[in-house]
Amino acid sequence: MKVAIVQNPEEGSRLAASIFIDQVKQNPKTVLGLATGSTPVKMYKLLAEACKAGTVSFKDCQSFNLDEYLGLAPEHDQSYHYFMKTQLFDHIDIDQAKTHVPDGLATDIAASCQAYEDAIKAAGGIDIQLLGIGSDGHIAFNEPGCSLACRTHSQVLTQQTINDNARLFFQGRVDEVPTQAVTMGIGSIMDAKKVVLLAFGKGKQDAIAGLVEGPVTAMCPCSALQYHNDCIVICDEEAAGKLRNKDYYKYIFSQTGVSNA
Ligand code: F6R
Repeated sequence: MKVAIVQNPEEGSRLAASIFIDQVKQNPKTVLGLATGSTPVKMYKLLAEACKAGTVSFKDCQSFNLDEYLGLAPEHDQSYHYFMKTQLFDHIDIDQAKTHVPDGLATDIAASCQAYEDAIKAAGGIDIQLLGIGSDGHIAFNEPGCSLACRTHSQVLTQQTINDNARLFFQGRVDEVPTQAVTMGIGSIMDAKKVVLLAFGKGKQDAIAGLVEGPVTAMCPCSALQYHNDCIVICDEEAAGKLRNKDYYKYIFSQTGVSNA
């Protein structure tokens, strides 16, 4: 695992955007794994700017998102379908028929999850997966205690996640937040060829410490990424605040840059 400690979210977003742009330039048919949440917003803006400037084209890419709230229609302004459309897909040249977000309204959830896994496989697997991280150590919506091998499934959200996400819902109300989600599993994420995880702010300190230096445990699901052989964690100084080997990671990064994750 490579750890890039940046000064601020702006610098982290620029680094992540450059990794994605390089990947798509190298392979225009890249299968993108995408995330929602506050963290990638700036990075998506940078991708949109690069696309508008003609630096990169996503027209031959496909994408798969990590998760969706159960019970929210794609048109709901807090659904992850809506987020992706408004934050990224409407601003780049991707063919929106080739963008995929789990179905939050599926009646047969197990069949819908299996179909999602099958679609990823049929696309040839995810080439590059973007991740945020929850303050409780979740990636996608894989909450503490989940199986580290699980595939796309429905997941009951922790109270911590519901509280964290309430800020985005009507009047910041906790009772507006769905209690369950459909999410790619840790096993699905581990299959991605490359993983780029972004974390900004003090609220992510414990999760980042668990991810990079903690024991691999279902109580901190992101820690499974210690077994991924091409994973870069991009975090700002605040999110890196509890890393014991911080100076060493900085030294490695200064020597090798983003390669050899
Ligand atoms: C969203 C997702 C979540 C978020 C995480 C952090 O698709 O998979 O794991 O990445 O909850 O959210 P923010 O970025 O809002 O702090």
